[in-house]
Amino acid sequence: MTQITVKTGRFSGIRTPLLAVFLYEKTYTVDGWLKEVDVVFKGRIAEVLKLRDFTASLNETLLIYAPNKAPIKRVLLVGLGKKRECTGEKIKQAFGTAARTARDKKLKRFTLCMNTFEPESLHPYELAYTAAESIILSLYQFIEYKTEEKKKYTAVREVVLFDSRLKLRADYISGVEAGTITAEATTYARDLASHPGNIVTPSFLAAEAEKIAGDNQLKCTIFDEKKLQSLQMNALLGVGKGSDQPPRLITVKYSCRAKKADTIVLVGKGITFDAGGISLKPAHKMEEMKYDMSGAAAVLAVMKIVKKLKPLVNVIGVLSAAENLPSGKAQKPGDIVKTYKGLTVEIINTDAEGRLILADALAFAVKTYKPAAIIDLATLTGAVVVALGHYATGMLGNNKALLKKIADASEKAGEMVWELPIYPEFDEHLKSDVADIRNSDGQGGGTIFGAAFLKKFVDKTPWVHLDIAGTAYGVTEKSYIPKGPTGVGVRTLCRLLQDWK
Ligand code: BES
Ligand code: MN
Ligand code: ZN
Repeated sequence: MTQITVKTGRFSGIRTPLLAVFLYEKTYTVDGWLKEVDVVFKGRIAEVLKLRDFTASLNETLLIYAPNKAPIKRVLLVGLGKKRECTGEKIKQAFGTAARTARDKKLKRFTLCMNTFEPESLHPYELAYTAAESIILSLYQFIEYKTEEKKKYTAVREVVLFDSRLKLRADYISGVEAGTITAEATTYARDLASHPGNIVTPSFLAAEAEKIAGDNQLKCTIFDEKKLQSLQMNALLGVGKGSDQPPRLITVKYSCRAKKADTIVLVGKGITFDAGGISLKPAHKMEEMKYDMSGAAAVLAVMKIVKKLKPLVNVIGVLSAAENLPSGKAQKPGDIVKTYKGLTVEIINTDAEGRLILADALAFAVKTYKPAAIIDLATLTGAVVVALGHYATGMLGNNKALLKKIADASEKAGEMVWELPIYPEFDEHLKSDVADIRNSDGQGGGTIFGAAFLKKFVDKTPWVHLDIAGTAYGVTEKSYIPKGPTGVGVRTLCRLLQDWK
C-alpha cells in the first residue's frame, strides 16, 4: 500500500527521484519558489520553459532531467490549465497525472510540490485530502487475475507532499490522513466490484462483512434463506430463487460514542450477477452485470473504515444480496410475492429485481432501527444512463433537508449527483390489476418509477435513493478513475458521515 507523507522545509533539502511541479497556463514565471527549485536544477527549468514547448494546459506534462548530481533527479511539470478556471476536479486530475507518470517510470518514490496552491483559495486541509485521494485512486490497478503482472507487481511505496511553507504542515497531515482513509475505502469497493460473479456471491459478501466486523469490533448479522423465510422477506427470496447461490441479508452496525446520537442506515443493492432472470438480458455486455453489486460494495467499504471517520452518528450498513438467474426454479413474470412489509407485488419483469431486494431491506431497516435517515445505493436502472449519461448519479428522495445534505456531501467529494423528481403521478403507474403494486410499467421515466416503487417501503422516514447505474462503471477514464468500477458513492458517504451533526 502506498504511503503518503508530508514534508516541509527547504527545496535544497529535497532528495527525490522525481519532483512534480504544478503550473497554471500562461502565467508561470520562474521566480519565487520555482526559482528555488531551479537553483537546485541549475537553471535548467527556466531554460526549458523559455522554449515555450510547455503551455501548462490541463494534464499536459513535461519531464526534465537533472543536470549532474542534483539531489532531485527529475522535475515533472504538470499543467493545471487557466488559473481562473481551476477547480478541485482539475487539481485532482493533475495530481493523478503526476502519479501515473511517475509510476510509468517505475519509480517507487516521488514527491509532489504543493507550493502552487494558495491557502486563501483552497484550504490546505482540503488540498491534502484531495491530493491523497487522487494519488491513491490514480495508482489503483486490478491485476488479481493477470498472472504476469501480478508476479512482477511492486507498489509505489511512498509519495511525499512537499511544501516550503512550514505553517501548512499540520493541516496537510490531517488532510492526508482523511483522504487516505476514503481513498482506501474506494479501492476496496473497486476490488469487490472487479472480482467476477463466480467469486463474489451473496455468501462471499457475507463472509467479507463478517471479516470487516471482526477486524473493527462491529456487530454483524447474516440472515440466511431460513431466516429470510421466517421473516417473510419474499421479495428478496423470490429474486434469489433462480440461482443455486442463496440470497443473504447482511447487516453491519457501528455505534458511536455520543449518547442520543442519530442513526443512519446505508442500504446497498448487492446483485452479484444480473442475467435478468426469466426476462433474460441480451448477451452483449452481460458480463458487466457482475457490477450490479456496486451499491453493496460501496456500503461495505464505508463500514470497513467507519470507525476511522469517528462520525457523531450511528451507522448501520445493510447489504441485500442475491444472484438473478433464469432456471426451472426461477421467479416468473406474472408471479405475485408478498413483501416483508406486507405489500403484494406483481412481477411484470424479473429484470427489475433491484427494487425487489431493496424493498425488503428498506422496510426491515425502517421497522427495526427507526433511523433518522436512510440512504440506498443501487445500480437500479438503465434509464438513469439515458437521463444523465455516465456523469452524474441520479438522486431521488422524500425529504428536502436530506437531499440537500447529500448534494453538499457529493459536491465536496467531487462525485456529481443530479436530482430527479418523484412525481405523485407515478403512483398510478405502480398500480397492478391483481396485486397492490407492480415492479415495472414498461413506460418512460424508468428511474422515477424505480424510486416511486422504493418510496412505498420507507414510509415517512427521510430517505434518499442514489441510482448509480451510470456512474458505478463505464465512465470516461480520468487519471484518478481508471477503466472498470469506480467505487462511486464511497467518498460522498464518507463526507456525509464526517459532517453529520
Ligand atoms: N441492473 C440493472 C440496471 C442496469 C442497467 C445497471 C445498465 C447498469 C447498467 C437492473 O436490474 C435492470 O435490469 N433494470 C431494468 C429495469 C426494467 C426492466 C424496468 C432496466 O433498466 O432495463
Ligand atoms: Mn435487472
Ligand atoms: Zn440489476
